[in-house]
Parts: sequence; C-alpha cells; structure tokens
Amino acid sequence: MAKKSFPLSRVYGLLEPGPVVLVTTAQKGRANIMTMSWHTMMEFEPPLVGCVISDRNHSFGVLKATKECVINIPTVELAAQVVGCGNTSGRKVDKFKAFGLTPAAASRVKAPLIDECYASLECKVVDAKLVAKYCFFILEVLKAWIDTSRKDPRTIHHLGRGAFMVAGRTIKLPSRKK
Ligand SMILES: Cc1cc2nc3c(=O)[nH]c(=O)nc-3n(C[C@H](O)[C@H](O)[C@H](O)COP(=O)(O)O)c2cc1C
Repeated sequence: MAKKSFPLSRVYGLLEPGPVVLVTTAQKGRANIMTMSWHTMMEFEPPLVGCVISDRNHSFGVLKATKECVINIPTVELAAQVVGCGNTSGRKVDKFKAFGLTPAAASRVKAPLIDECYASLECKVVDAKLVAKYCFFILEVLKAWIDTSRKDPRTIHHLGRGAFMVAGRTIKLPSRKK
C-alpha cells in the first residue's frame, strides 16, 4: 500500500468541502466579520446550513444572542482579507475598517452583507440544540444575493496550515441527482 499514516489533527484539511466564507454578525450597531470553513449544506429548500463557530470567537456570543448572520462568499481576490478576518478578533478590531471591506444593508437581518463578496446569504439560527456540545449552529438561508456580473468566481477552499485550494475548471457529467 502506498498510503502512510496521517496525523488526526490534519484530517480536516482532507475533507474540507465548501468555500471559505466570511460570516458577518451585528450587535448594538457594531458589525463584525469572522472567517469560517467548517460548514455543510443540510437541506435544499429552504436551504439549511450547519456550521461550527467556536465559543472562543467573539462571533459565537453575538450569533447566539442575535440568532442571525450573513454568510458572505469571497473569491481569491479577497484571500488576504479572508486570512486577516480569521486572525483577528472583533473584540478588539473593526474588521470592516482594518481590511477595507464595505458593509451593505441586508433585507431580512441586521448583520450586513459584504459588498466585495460575490454572494451573500442572509441567515437565521433555526436550531441551537448542538451549540452547547459542539458549537454547531443550524442556519436557514432567508434571502440569497449573487453578483451575476462575475462569470468566473474563483472561491478558495481551506486545506489547513495556511494552504488554500483555488476553485478551478468546471466539468459536467450526466446525472439524475440535483
Ligand atoms: C481559513 C480559516 C478558516 C476558519 N474557519 C473557522 C471555522 O470554521 N469555525 C471557527 O470557529 N473558526 C474558524 N476560523 C477562526 C476564526 O475565523 C478566528 O478565530 C477569528 O479570529 C474569529 O473572529 P471573532 O473573534 O471576531 O469572531 C477560521 C480561520 C481561518 C483563517
């Protein structure tokens, strides 16, 4: 067998599924941004998204209290800001100012969209049963926005330890599944 033993602490980088996203929250008129890669789709429509937001993060308390957020999907052009938002805390830093990102009003939630991201999903927490044990929030997407002028949005996917895979070419195969 060509395979070798692999550290359990690095397994997450093998399974990393969707794009790295920027989660915005807001409380008492203060908006914040957090980088997140541990999320998963759970239902088609209404779309449900499960995500792990650590209780060490400022965003955790705000999301738990306000029960709403926006999942913003950045492309590779924003990679430096993505890492920046994932290495600073909203407890100390106004990340919109620090990383030159622009808040835009959402329609269904108080947390802002990030103008520079090519898609934004307004969400509310619909199930917090697993929050105490796993910091796992289940979100319902209430409203979705996309910049249709972006023909080739190249999202970034976290492989761990500062490594990111940039989305590449699309292939199409016959499939009966959605
Ligand atoms: C690429 C990347 C992915 C991350 N994914 C997650 C994640 O899925 N869940 C999480 O709790 N923290 C994640 N983090 C860490 C948070 O973004 C980080 O702790 C951030 O400083 C929290 O900000 P806040 O204190 O303003 O909420 C990630 C960081 C990076 C750089």
